[in-house]
Amino acid sequence: MQEIIKQIKELKEKKNALILAHNYQAIEIQEVADYRGDSLQLAMLSRDLKSPMIAFCGVKFMAETAAILNPKSRVLLPVLDAGCPMADMISAEQLREFKAQYPGSPVVCYVNSTVEVKAESDICCTSSNAVKVLQSLPADKEILFVPDRNLGSWAAAQSGRKVIPWNGYCPTHQWGFGVQDITNMRTKYPEYTLLAHPECDPAIVSLADEVMSTGGMMKYVAEHDRVIIATENGMTDYLKHIYPHKKILSLSPKAVCQNMKKTGIRDLLRALQEETHHIVVEEDIAAKARLSIDRMLALS
Ligand code: 13P
Ligand code: SF4
Repeated sequence: MQEIIKQIKELKEKKNALILAHNYQAIEIQEVADYRGDSLQLAMLSRDLKSPMIAFCGVKFMAETAAILNPKSRVLLPVLDAGCPMADMISAEQLREFKAQYPGSPVVCYVNSTVEVKAESDICCTSSNAVKVLQSLPADKEILFVPDRNLGSWAAAQSGRKVIPWNGYCPTHQWGFGVQDITNMRTKYPEYTLLAHPECDPAIVSLADEVMSTGGMMKYVAEHDRVIIATENGMTDYLKHIYPHKKILSLSPKAVCQNMKKTGIRDLLRALQEETHHIVVEEDIAAKARLSIDRMLALS
């Protein structure tokens, strides 16, 4: 492991590359990364970085967003089939049909979506700015929200906007936790604060003390102790690693995203050696998707 990390650092230096890692990545990936963060933080960083090469440790939609925002950098996704099942729950064709049913309704699309879906949408959002994005839209309109029904309905309630959500969801957050997990943990750890990601089922979100993005969780735990976390478990693993003296628990061991776990340290080394997999988004579609992403970034 030490030898691989040494080679990664040397290659990074030699090729003037930067490594970005999402908060769900394995500890060793996060440790070797130059920057870690949630979807919004990583999108903003990738837009602003001047490095000619960015190795993106996360899932495909994140690397695509980076490639759209920073066409001058060579964006690498170490494992090409690290996708997001929720992003694949709506196609551009399905979104066009959805829009046809509600003419005049603006479309908000979660960044966990394909480039084609972003290109068909008015504005993107992430879990950290979904409420703000909805509030930027007219209060008298019904707003279409794709693909995440859970984030859509939570953000609708928070923003006071009327949202028609697409019926998509993140399998990890949807099926990773049950109400019984909360009952058990609350009984055992009554003084702990329960933080939930808004991708969780509304039954979980309604029982949480705080609802926030992974970036929000990072900030919260920096300032507090005794927390129970309901999100993908890479987040909890890394928090425990950097705060070994804090009491940090995962709501359930089941909440593991297989796609976020596909990138291993050897994959990252190979990506830097071979400069693969180069994520290229065709400029026609990138230009349309960039409009939706830029509208979101202008609010962030
Ligand atoms: P955030 O890191 O933006 O909270 O998103 C979580 C997620 O599921 C990314 O795939
Ligand atoms: Fe997609 Fe869920 Fe995995 Fe995030 S945790 S990449 S939303 S499947």
